[in-house]
Amino acid sequence: MEFRHKHLLDISEYSADEITLLLDIAERFREVNERRIKKVPTLKGYTVVNMFNEPSTRTRSSFEIAEKRLSCDTLNFGGSSTSTVKGESLLDTVRTLCSYKIDLIVVRDKHAGVPYQVAQASGLPVIDAGDGKHQHPTQALLDLYTIRKHFGSIDGLSVGIVGDIGHSRVCGSLIPALKIMGAEVTVIGPPTLMPACPKLLGADHVTSSLDEALPSLDVVYMLRIQRERLEGAPFPSLREYNMLFGLTREREKLMKPHAIVCHPGPLNRGVELDDYMADHLERSRVLDQVYAGVLVRMAALYTLLGGSEHGVDA
Ligand code: CP
Repeated sequence: MEFRHKHLLDISEYSADEITLLLDIAERFREVNERRIKKVPTLKGYTVVNMFNEPSTRTRSSFEIAEKRLSCDTLNFGGSSTSTVKGESLLDTVRTLCSYKIDLIVVRDKHAGVPYQVAQASGLPVIDAGDGKHQHPTQALLDLYTIRKHFGSIDGLSVGIVGDIGHSRVCGSLIPALKIMGAEVTVIGPPTLMPACPKLLGADHVTSSLDEALPSLDVVYMLRIQRERLEGAPFPSLREYNMLFGLTREREKLMKPHAIVCHPGPLNRGVELDDYMADHLERSRVLDQVYAGVLVRMAALYTLLGGSEHGVDA
């Protein structure tokens, strides 16, 4: 299958076949990552800029590892050490970087839409590594990879996404991605953390009762309470939030025997998940998600720079 995309900015522009292709290529890169020498010359000679203007642990480190394992040259750029603090605009910064004849830009920014602007200004392939409350497409891919790896298929699964729905870029990509792949999606959270019209997110069901939703879910996807994006006080206390929406040892009794737990990280232990559920060996897939981040980011870099499903090891 020919890959027709120049960018990875909006997962809803991808078809089920294209997402499946990316997940299949990620699976091929899993084999590379399980060798003693975890490096292939596939993207030797390409230069990728990682422009992170907002903090990140998982996304930034896994992109960098993915690039190194594909033999790319990388430039890590962003934050307070750049000339943007002297007043240089983002777009002038992008044009400056493009003068180095780079090949692809990975962008994280606290403002929604910045990756689109970078794509327009650079004319280069761009991967959105999380923009404001908007999208986080590679997070959705690693979540799909993790769920497919566990269940064998995503089609027909019941997935509940719990928590801060209104501020979540993870939701912005994960809900459309799950729908494209045939899952049934329920969003669960306090009304004060829902967008004004939650149905517009594309979920099949909306509820404020985790206890009612839990018995029907195959995947319980807990979102982080994003303290940095909350204005005012949308719930009385983190303790009360945990009582109503936290996944706890007590609530596990309501879960299906085979149901799994996902979380994009970083975790607020004791808020979204208690220690027992966060570290639950059978249910928690949190570290599998982190590992999948390297695999799907290798797949995204590889396909956007022109690779086909036949040349993974080349
Ligand atoms: N899930 C995620 O995006 O984590 P980081 O903010 O650590 O990259």
